[in-house]
Amino acid sequence: MWAEFCKFAGEMNMDMTKIKTIGVLTSGGDAPGMNAAIRAVTRAAIYNGWKVKGIYRGWEGLINNEIKDFTSESVSGTINRGGTILRTARSKDFMNEEGRAKAHENLKAHGVDALIVIGGNGSLAGAQIIASEYDIPCVGLPGTIDNDLYGTDTTIGYDTALNTIMDCVDKIRDTANSHNRIFFVEVMGRDAGFLAQNAAIATGAEAAIIPEDKTDVDQLATFIGRGVRKSKNSSIVLVSESKKDGSGGAQYYADRLVHEYPEFEARVTILGHLQRGGIPTAQDRILASRLGVAAIEALKDGQRNVMIGVKNDQIVYVPFNKAIRIDKPIDRELINVLNVLSI
Ligand code: F6P
Repeated sequence: MWAEFCKFAGEMNMDMTKIKTIGVLTSGGDAPGMNAAIRAVTRAAIYNGWKVKGIYRGWEGLINNEIKDFTSESVSGTINRGGTILRTARSKDFMNEEGRAKAHENLKAHGVDALIVIGGNGSLAGAQIIASEYDIPCVGLPGTIDNDLYGTDTTIGYDTALNTIMDCVDKIRDTANSHNRIFFVEVMGRDAGFLAQNAAIATGAEAAIIPEDKTDVDQLATFIGRGVRKSKNSSIVLVSESKKDGSGGAQYYADRLVHEYPEFEARVTILGHLQRGGIPTAQDRILASRLGVAAIEALKDGQRNVMIGVKNDQIVYVPFNKAIRIDKPIDRELINVLNVLSI
């Protein structure tokens, strides 16, 4: 029984027989595997006899009525493609009531009875708001390379981004070894250190500087204190990108290092948006396919206002307010693994 998998049940609306047409959109930062999710949602809906409307450019496109009929063929040949065929945007207009009223008008005009939103925190927050203002069932899929949504073990795009970072850092190691330098490699994840922490483990890096480690602990001093470079030719430190106020980031730590410890030579690499592109890994394609099918099952089941996630390899429904509002903790065991292995 599907319900057995629902660890967190969302708001239920048993009268789902009225769903005939669903809309699907991607919003916020794109993530590899989003196309596999769009494909899965589209095909699973059609399989169940529903119509599908593809909404382009996220909430912004919904406000501007950028909506097209989707068929099974609309998503052919997309499972292996990075980015999002629906394109995406970060919408300012959707933040105000007027914008959302326009979005709802367009949904009604296209006969959309339920909405599937693929994206991160901001996108699911948008889904939660429109669902609370209008009677439109919304189901979310976690699509972000940051892996920062609570209630799911992983998010669509995270595994691909992690592998991309790993490839880049492996290359940086070659040059770092040749020169005896300390490299600060900046990765995405402003508020969450999953990419930095796990990429550090996967690449044999010497340290990770992540937002979850509070600033009263001086992470640079800790790294130096642990005996930087001991018997090694190089050191690589993975750093989560700087905060919105500009503090932190790889350049900040490199500058501090050469200022406070002039005996070291430092270099900075900022991986930036290349982390968001590329062919999705098998893991992301499978995850996105499972979540997409589960999203349609959830709507059939009368679920609304939930994000579909995966916990211990089981599909779970996570109410939007939990997925978005609760901070997802970094497993301290991962921090220990890096500390132990980087001696
Ligand atoms: O949320 C995904 C993400 O890639 C973050 O890691 C990053 O801080 C942000 O998006 C960058 O956003 P943008 O592409 O709008 O600059």
